Amino acid sequence: MDIGVFIPIGNNGWLISTTSPQYKPSFALNRAIVEKAEAYGFDFALSMIKLRGFGGPSEFWDHNLESFTLMAGLAAVTSRIQLLASVAVLTLPPALVARMAVTIDSISHGRFGINLVTGWQKAEYEQMGLWPGEVHFARRYEYLAEYVQVMQQLWTSGQSDFKGDFFTMNDCRLSPPPSSKIALMTAGQSEKGVKFAAEYTDYNFVGSEGINAPLRCAPTVARLVAEAGRTGRRVGAYLLVMIIADETDAAAMAKWEHYKAGVDMEALQWASEQAGADKQASATSTGGRIAQMASAYTDEGPVPTRFGRLIGSYANVAKMLDEMATIPGVGGVMLTFDDFLIGVEQFGHRIQPLMRSRARIAAAA
Ligand SMILES: Cc1cc2nc3c(=O)[nH]c(=O)nc-3n(C[C@H](O)[C@H](O)[C@H](O)COP(=O)(O)O)c2cc1C
Repeated sequence: MDIGVFIPIGNNGWLISTTSPQYKPSFALNRAIVEKAEAYGFDFALSMIKLRGFGGPSEFWDHNLESFTLMAGLAAVTSRIQLLASVAVLTLPPALVARMAVTIDSISHGRFGINLVTGWQKAEYEQMGLWPGEVHFARRYEYLAEYVQVMQQLWTSGQSDFKGDFFTMNDCRLSPPPSSKIALMTAGQSEKGVKFAAEYTDYNFVGSEGINAPLRCAPTVARLVAEAGRTGRRVGAYLLVMIIADETDAAAMAKWEHYKAGVDMEALQWASEQAGADKQASATSTGGRIAQMASAYTDEGPVPTRFGRLIGSYANVAKMLDEMATIPGVGGVMLTFDDFLIGVEQFGHRIQPLMRSRARIAAAA
């Protein structure tokens, strides 16, 4: 099973709280994390693109670097780990992104891939005058399908005359070509998103849920496997999960309780309103799931993250990660941590050596 890290390109990582570790993003921090991850044999690092934060006392994600330029910098100082950048497709034309990808492919010697983001947070785009209107929610995967076709024509033939509803290429050129295939991925969980992933991508990220429930995302993975069966393509499911680990279960759980006590309700409320803008959002879409996040009526109540968490001793976290590896269709797990520098170290030094699904890598690292 592959292991990746979802690096903190935005402040405070993935905990919407005033009592979790508070830090700003920087190249130096992300470089230190990725260098450590590479040394421990991690397979990939992904950075997201987020253009508007959630505010609140924790200023959640009000401070964010840009994904492609960060990965270009990391490409120059690493040698083995796969580097994945995210593009908000409403903000950059596909021919330009295809060329940016070729550039990072060149810097990294073929270690680059792209996470395609259709967007669920209207404010990110409206602030730049780039929001196409509510119709985007309904047509976002049609837009993305054209976007991907333009890039693929440019990478494979160096030329595109694509004519669609959203994009018009007029003998558009691209050279040099990439040195190796640029992997494409999405994080679609909605019905349309999963269908798109099966048709066009190499990997799809799947958000896990709950505390210490490693198999709860199996039905979502099964939906992807079924769709990929229909298209006859190989599409790996990559599970997103946060690790909060310590010597004992009790010590790890105490950290989570401490972060929970500081949950930033103002930031949660803002995110929930943004996600609620898509009135037709299905319950499984990112918009649908985030809209529920500030609700006190869910089984957990308001929490600093609703993504799945593995909270416990090093041995128990290793065991739960091994369980995730058994879900049919899972290609890997992408990790976040409450504190990334400590977390990657704990993973590499204490957790990975106990994992059956990483035995070969752990020995090499
Ligand atoms: C691993 C992972 C990475 C993501 N990266 C981004 C990102 O960089 N920017 C963003 O706005 N949304 C990001 N998202 C959210 C979804 O990609 C995005 O909202 C997408 O439109 C969801 O599609 P859906 O509505 O079909 O589920 C991410 C989600 C996951 C699970």
